Amino acid sequence: MEPALQSTSSGLYPEVGPEGFSQRNFERLSALIQQYSGIKMPAAKRTMISVRLRSRLMQLHLPHIDAYCDYLFLEDGLESEIVHLIDAVSTNKTDFFREPAHFDFLRETALPSYAEEGRRQIKIWSSASSIGAEAYTLAMVLDDFRTRRRGPDFSILGTDISTEALAVAVSGQFPRAMMEPVPDEFLARYILEPRDPEVDFVRIVPALRAKVAWGRMNLMDERYPVDRDMDVIFCRNVLIYFDRPTQHKVLERLCSHLSAGGYLILGHSESGIGANLPVTAVYNTIFQKV
Ligand SMILES: C[S@@+](CC[C@H](N)C(=O)[O-])C[C@H]1O[C@@H](n2cnc3c(N)ncnc32)[C@H](O)[C@@H]1O
Repeated sequence: MEPALQSTSSGLYPEVGPEGFSQRNFERLSALIQQYSGIKMPAAKRTMISVRLRSRLMQLHLPHIDAYCDYLFLEDGLESEIVHLIDAVSTNKTDFFREPAHFDFLRETALPSYAEEGRRQIKIWSSASSIGAEAYTLAMVLDDFRTRRRGPDFSILGTDISTEALAVAVSGQFPRAMMEPVPDEFLARYILEPRDPEVDFVRIVPALRAKVAWGRMNLMDERYPVDRDMDVIFCRNVLIYFDRPTQHKVLERLCSHLSAGGYLILGHSESGIGANLPVTAVYNTIFQKV
């Protein structure tokens, strides 16, 4: 049932639902988020949206989400606000060395074969890179292989839809607690301790940061402004938020950016979605372009 129309003290918000979030506005917001980013927003995500938008409402001095929707939908706010909305609702959970089998595969299989072929340079894309832990893990593994086994030089591209996540990635600064999965020898080579021992943030060394370029990119876009000869594309733990047709379209586009023989690497819960693509499964979440 639609909520009764309420008039607020300011008279500005004709359609205030219970707790300031009407069903109609939930539906409009969730449709907008899904259409723009692919991220599904079923009814169960309603509370999550309310919680995640709290600090944005405070920044905008708005009393509730219905007022936010008026701002978003009625006052030409969409253009400037959509980036902040997506920042608020995207889930950026990530870790260094997350799903380590993928990095073992690179170290033990892909990189040795590139080295054997005499490849001088390889290109890797972390296509939903969040705050950058995935791309910096790749940089550590590749740099280590290059120096110890005369492996190829490399460049890494990290992209994400979230500007807030990308800002952390670009800064190269992370809470010390995030370094727990990083092997000691990598900590010694690739991580800088702060001068002030009270500071709980560490930094990626400049030489490694220089190997990664960052950019905002929406996987929902029809075209990706990215080279078409990537050797490895990581697209992990983002497709789970999309519906099946969207997953398939995104994967088709990603495959078109892989060179022949290149690898597409998905998250552990995304293994079943590589069907009907120009790839063969190497392991359950690792695919190779044919
Ligand atoms: C859970 S994180 C995964 C990060 C990393 N790939 C990993 O596995 O640790 C999902 C990331 O996907 C991003 N994302 C969501 N929708 C996206 C889209 N349409 N285009 C690009 N990135 C998107 C989010 O901003 C978030 O940073």
